[in-house]
Order: sequence, then C-alpha cells, then structure tokens
Amino acid sequence: MAQAFDVLVVGSGAAGLTAALNLAEQRKVAVIAKGALGEGATGWAQGGIAAVLEAGDSFESHVEDTVIAGAGLNDRAVVEHVVSAAPSAIARLVELGVPFATEGDTFHLTREGGHSHRRIVHVADATGAAVQRALEKAAAANPNITLLPDMVAVDLITGRHGERFSTEGAIHGLYAYNRKRRRVETLTARATVLATGGAGRTYLFSTAPRGATGDGIAMAWRAGCRVSNMEMMQFHPTCLYHLEVKNFLITEAVRGEGGHLKLPTTGERFMPRFDERAELAPRDVVARAIDFEIKRLGLDYVHLDISHREPDFVRSHFPTIYEKLLGLGIDITREPIPVVPAQHYTCGGIVVDLDGRTDAPGLYAAGECTESGLHGANRLASNSLLECLVFGEAAAKHILGHWNDIPAVPPVREWDESRVTNSDEEVVIAQTWGEIRRFMWNYVGIVRTTKRLERAKRRIDMLRQEVSEYYRHFRVTPDLIELRNLVEVSDLIIRSALSRRESRGLHYTLDHLRQLPEAKDTVLAP
Ligand code: FAD
Ligand code: SIN
Repeated sequence: MAQAFDVLVVGSGAAGLTAALNLAEQRKVAVIAKGALGEGATGWAQGGIAAVLEAGDSFESHVEDTVIAGAGLNDRAVVEHVVSAAPSAIARLVELGVPFATEGDTFHLTREGGHSHRRIVHVADATGAAVQRALEKAAAANPNITLLPDMVAVDLITGRHGERFSTEGAIHGLYAYNRKRRRVETLTARATVLATGGAGRTYLFSTAPRGATGDGIAMAWRAGCRVSNMEMMQFHPTCLYHLEVKNFLITEAVRGEGGHLKLPTTGERFMPRFDERAELAPRDVVARAIDFEIKRLGLDYVHLDISHREPDFVRSHFPTIYEKLLGLGIDITREPIPVVPAQHYTCGGIVVDLDGRTDAPGLYAAGECTESGLHGANRLASNSLLECLVFGEAAAKHILGHWNDIPAVPPVREWDESRVTNSDEEVVIAQTWGEIRRFMWNYVGIVRTTKRLERAKRRIDMLRQEVSEYYRHFRVTPDLIELRNLVEVSDLIIRSALSRRESRGLHYTLDHLRQLPEAKDTVLAP
C-alpha cells in the first residue's frame, strides 16, 4: 500500500529541511533520509556561510569573487540573485536559533580563499552542526512535517510506473528501501524535492560523508533530467593527512586567519611562488599547487602552520580542530598540521532553474545535488550552505505557488520483487566500490589527461555492465542502491570531463591547457 504525502523531500540537510520548513506552511511534507537525519554534509560544515555583512563590502564584490572563482562559467543572474538573498537567509537562521559568533553587536566575520572581504558568518569551526541542529529542531516541532530516517530512495516514480503505462515525464514520488522493515516501500506525492547532497564518495579520498554517493543526481538522470558540469569536482586543499583518520577537514578559515602552507622538507612557504594571493587563492589553485609540490618532491603531505598566532586565538577560533588534533598527538598551537588535498564538493549536478525546477514536472532539486549556475567551474568557499538555503526556499515557494499546475498522482504500481532473489555474492559490491573510487582518484583527479580519462571510461563501461546484471538478479540493499548510483555518477563525471577540451576552474587537463574564449556548460541529456 502506497503512503501518500503532499510533498516528498529527499534529504534532511540544509537544502531539504529549508524546503520542508517552507512547504509546511501549507502542505503535509515527508522528509526522508537514508540514515540518521544529521548524517549529511551539512552537519560537517566547518567554515561558515558567506554573506555581505561587513561595512565596505558590497553585493557586487561578492558576485565578482564568485565569478572569478568559478572561472566565468557561472550564470551571473543566478549569482546576483543568491548573493543578494544571503543576508536575509542568515537572518532566518538566527531566528531559528543558530548562535553565530559575534563581536560586540555585529557578527564576527572570518575570511576564506577567493573572498576579497571578511564575509563568513560562523559558529566557531563547527557551523554546520549548529545549522543542522536548528533546522532539525524546527522540523521536528512542525506538525506538518513527518521525518522518516533510514529510508533509502531507490528510484523516482515516473509515468512508466503508473498502472497505465505512460511516457510522460512527470514524477509522482519514489520507491524507498526501509532499513528497519528491510523492504522497498512506495511513497507518492504531487511534488518531490531532491536534496540528496553530493557525490564525493566516487573518490578514494574525500572530506564528504559516507552517504555522498550522488543518489539524487543518478535518480534524476534515470528519470530523464539533464545534468551539467559534472567534471567540476572540487578538491579541498587541506584535508588532514593521518594514517587512521582519513577524511577530517582543516577549514579554509585556518588560512583565512593567517595559516601558511609550507614544505615539510625545508619549511619554505611555497604558495607565493604559485599565486599572488598565496594561501588565499581560490581552492583549485591551492589544491593544484599542493598536488604539484607533493608529486615534484615525492612527499606524502605538506604542512599547514598556524602556530605563529597566539595560542588563545587558535584555540578559541578552531576549538573542534584543536581538540581533534590534540587527541591525535598534534598540538596546532605549537606545530604544523600535515595536510593533503581531497575531494570536497560536487559543483555539477541536476540542472535547475531559479525556482529549483528540474526538467521533469513535479520534480524539484536544491543544494549540492544541483547545478544551479551559482558555482560555475569552481565553488567559492562558503557559498554552498548559502545555495541550500536560497534554493530550498525557492523550490518550496514555487511548489506552493503552482500547486494546481503540478500533475496529480495517478494510481502507481508497487515495487515488484517477483523476479529477484537474495544476493549470493555480496563481495561484488565492496570490490566494485573500491575499484571505482581508486581509478576515479588516479585517472579523474586534480590533474587529468585524455588518456587517463579514456582508461577510466573503459573501466566504468565494464563495471556498469556487471552492476546492471547484478541489479537485475538480486534484491536491493542500501549498498547495492548506492553502488548503482556511484557507477552512474562516475560515468557522468568521466563523460563530462572527456567532452571539455580546455582547462577551466576545477577541470585541469594537460592535453588542453588553454582556457577557451567562451565559457560553456557541459550539459548531458539522457
Ligand atoms: P547534505 O547536507 O549532504 O544532505 C544530504 C541528505 O540527503 C542527507 O540527509 C542524506 O541522508 C540524504 N540522502 C542522500 N541520498 C539519499 C537517498 N538515496 N535516499 C534518502 N536520502 C538520501 N559549505 C559551506 O558553505 N560552508 C562550509 O563551511 C562548508 N564546510 C564543509 C565541510 C565539509 C567537511 C564538507 C564535506 C562540506 C562542507 N561544505 C561547506 C559543503 C556543504 O556542507 C554542503 O555542500 C551542504 O551541506 C550540502 O547540503 P545538502 O542539503 O545539499 O546535502
Ligand atoms: C572550509 O571550512 O574550508 C569549507 C568551506 C566550504 O567548503 O565552503
């Protein structure tokens, strides 16, 4: 029996919960998350949220910084819209109780790479956790919102799943695997919002949480939506290098507050050799410089050093990092931090317009799973949570304002398991997952070549066949659902990278070093 809601939101991070809170003013909403509600990237965000709040700063300057970081691939109208909406988005979070750091009666603003002003509101170095807590608390208290953790969306319900087969593109909800009941359930809704986060776990080293497997992007693609700029995978320059702790981010705000990148061999501060903005150049520039030095000198890591600042300043600005690293035997007030670049953010995604609409009627998307035009070829630091807030609200407003234009839900078929059995070789899943993440890191990483991308393409083609065959024969499990999406998304990344014949922003290829005069999105259509 299908469970029916007015609107389904897939994802309980900043984008999903913002959409749900706005929708709940008029509609009954269900929010599903594939694990616990706070397991997305939102709760992990450290640095903060960018907004023009400093005297002397301006929207024009934030727009300009965003477009410079994005290497001109941004949609300027979208950038202007988001930047100008930032101060009110921050005000709404304050109303929800997010305790942003203050200095006297104004916000304390920190600085990050690519920003020409102090612009980042933050809650020490654990901003995301505070935002996630506030949004979850408001959603849990709202009688129009049903929170459904442990539900893994498998696929969107399209006309093909109706009792009467239709090839019309509208979306009527989704099938989701209920982890507690261990079965696939049918959830219908007039509108569905995908807020499923990024696809960082396609890479061996990533700061993203375990669930960042690009599920929403893959589902939207399978349902007929376009995706764009998937080659623009952002690598954060400073992930902790540690043999046991693999994906702990060292916030860019450490460099914003004066941290220096140094060679562990000689202590040389090397960034000034690469860019006049030194450590505060945009992320793609800093990550490539570190990658270059690591490869040139055969290093395992470089050093990030903030020990020249007052110990009290370091402890009070970066309490989470200080405590975490102290626990690992590194006192950041006295010694440098070993760091390496790691995948961090998925700039590309499902194509959406300013209202969060995708190509399919009834399907909206917001946050890291989308390509809205904001980030272009490289996201400016701390513009991502901002995008979640602005587009989560925009999608909700559009759904509420156009309710009668969205197709009603027809009778739909239940999930059919009559032709599958339980898997007898789960090992395939772990093996394939590991293979993908390794070759994506080595062949589709920070510095690319056509030959390496073609190698990756051959491998993903083979794995795609194997995984489709496996999927046809066996009952779905959360791991299989994720693996199927990982294959889909990796294929989209590789194809997008192969089709861009220039180096721009995050896509840097030794075979096409020049940037073409015209900035064009890579758009893939199913
Ligand atoms: P997420 O918060 O990632 O949430 C995704 C949700 O989708 C989760 O609830 C998940 O369970 C659900 N989901 C996914 N697939 C399925 C499925 N199949 N079925 C059901 N549910 C599903 N950005 C900034 O602006 N400032 C920062 O300081 C900052 N710091 C960061 C630090 C780290 C370590 C990382 C990893 C990212 C950081 N970012 C930062 C980026 C930012 O945190 C993310 O881009 C943003 O939080 C994404 O929010 P979201 O709502 O789109 O998705
Ligand atoms: C960081 O704190 O360095 C991450 C900021 C971001 O990803 O926007």
